[in-house]
Amino acid sequence: MTIQTIPTRAFDGQKPGTSGLRKKVTVFQQPHYLENFVQAVFDTVPLAGATLVLGGDGRFHNRVAVDTIVRMAAANGVARVLVGQGGLLSTPAVSCVIRKHGADGGIILSASHNPGGPDGDFGIKYNIGNGGPAPEKITDAIYAVTQTITEYRIVESAEFDLDTLGRYSVGDMIVDVIDPVDDYAELMQQLFDFDAIRAWFAAGHTLRFDAMSAASGPYATRLLEGLLGATPGSVVNGVPLEDFGGHHPDPNPAHATELIDAMRGGSAPHGAPDFGAASDGDADRNMVVGRKHNVSPSDSLAVLAANATLIPGYANGLAGVARSMPTSCAVDVVAEELGIDCFETPTGWKFFGNLLDAGKVTLCGEESYGTGSDHVREKDGVWAVLCWLNLVAKTGQSIDELLEAHWARFGRHYYSRHDFEAIDTVAANALVDGLRAKLPTLVGSQLAGKRIALADDFAYDDPIDHSHSAKQGIRIVFDDGARIVYRLSGTGTDGATLRVYLEQPERDRLDLDAQEALAPLIAASRELADIKGLTGREAPTVVT
Ligand code: G6P
Ligand code: ZN
Repeated sequence: MTIQTIPTRAFDGQKPGTSGLRKKVTVFQQPHYLENFVQAVFDTVPLAGATLVLGGDGRFHNRVAVDTIVRMAAANGVARVLVGQGGLLSTPAVSCVIRKHGADGGIILSASHNPGGPDGDFGIKYNIGNGGPAPEKITDAIYAVTQTITEYRIVESAEFDLDTLGRYSVGDMIVDVIDPVDDYAELMQQLFDFDAIRAWFAAGHTLRFDAMSAASGPYATRLLEGLLGATPGSVVNGVPLEDFGGHHPDPNPAHATELIDAMRGGSAPHGAPDFGAASDGDADRNMVVGRKHNVSPSDSLAVLAANATLIPGYANGLAGVARSMPTSCAVDVVAEELGIDCFETPTGWKFFGNLLDAGKVTLCGEESYGTGSDHVREKDGVWAVLCWLNLVAKTGQSIDELLEAHWARFGRHYYSRHDFEAIDTVAANALVDGLRAKLPTLVGSQLAGKRIALADDFAYDDPIDHSHSAKQGIRIVFDDGARIVYRLSGTGTDGATLRVYLEQPERDRLDLDAQEALAPLIAASRELADIKGLTGREAPTVVT
């Protein structure tokens, strides 16, 4: 094994965003681009002699990247790499494998819910030994190395068969090609009441799980159809494709329209299934859909928190819960009733890691279709679906009944996110700066017919490591608990994306359409930020 030292020059813009480094495939295809970032990881984190987990969501460029990273790991003295067969590992599965095998870290190849294929996106993310995304102090250090890098180390070739399970040697390094599903499926069986869910399917109940031709397919097929007895064919689009079949693998009402049609009875040959669900490119997001309602991610977190003790893995109750700041306060109401802590963190799953490690929270979630718990350190799409299946099977209530019962008990937080995608970056920054400048004048004034009680730029002090994260989104909070939140996305690859999050709590009016219930706030949000004037956009590109 000859280690080659290849001279390189730094690329601009290799700064990891909300969730790793994400760029167009064509950017990653530039000679040395991936290599520079990977070497920056090896230069930042001491991984000589370490065990590393490696895999991705199977999108275009995944296999090329796996080969490069294995060769660089060997050249940088890594002792062992566990890689998913075919290069496939869902994001939560990487987290699970890191934890179960005591690995020192992992590299995930994914651009999550962004489209794939040669013209789509690619991404890379480093996870630490707890199984979760590296915190900002590590990603900042990685970025600093990418700015000054002059060389990287790689071995010429790695002789191993990525498609055949087994142990291989690449020089002094061991490569174990592992089944991508085994460890994850074992963990799920420890958490959920498989007998109850099996009985629910055996009684004739039906499910449609849309894997969106992405990474969740093999996991959902093994667990739902294989171990739990859902009718074969319940998992649709279950084979991961390099371009996700040309679709946008984001489980939300805008991109999972086939599933929503099926749940409303539209395209199903024998009426709507009892249970609908979808997951994203790397299987960490989820959407749960009833025959009548799409469960909003914020509501999903609240319902799971309120009913967690029905799930064996959480039968002893919750230590606490956490949500990202833009996520609705529905879970706060549950936490108060349960008498447990509720933490509010910036957007990005990495902010939950310390709270989970310290045992302060058991469940956490984000409005961006992410829900998870302390079982791994990533959000987990298939796990969330199993949570809901467990509740449905245990209570005999449908998704819609569980949701409506929850609203009747705790009130309803009408919620929607309006995205203005691919807007000019300069205009987007001007819009946020304009809002920041207005903040001091807003408290006490009237907007949308109510009084503004709080207006700030959200900042977070991590209670565990005391790190401070500033400028995490503009919050406008009203006397009645309604909120408008503005943020620029940290995951896009095309210009800037402005996200406007809207929330209106209601105690009694539980049956409204969300966009109607939010109409006054929507209008106020456009006016306050002068969205049309500054971006030229009359309307959002995506509403979830
Ligand atoms: C990824 C992250 C999430 C985050 C989401 C939206 O899925 O893992 O933690 O909530 O992106 O981020 P964005 O910055 O685009 O709003
Ligand atoms: Zn994802």
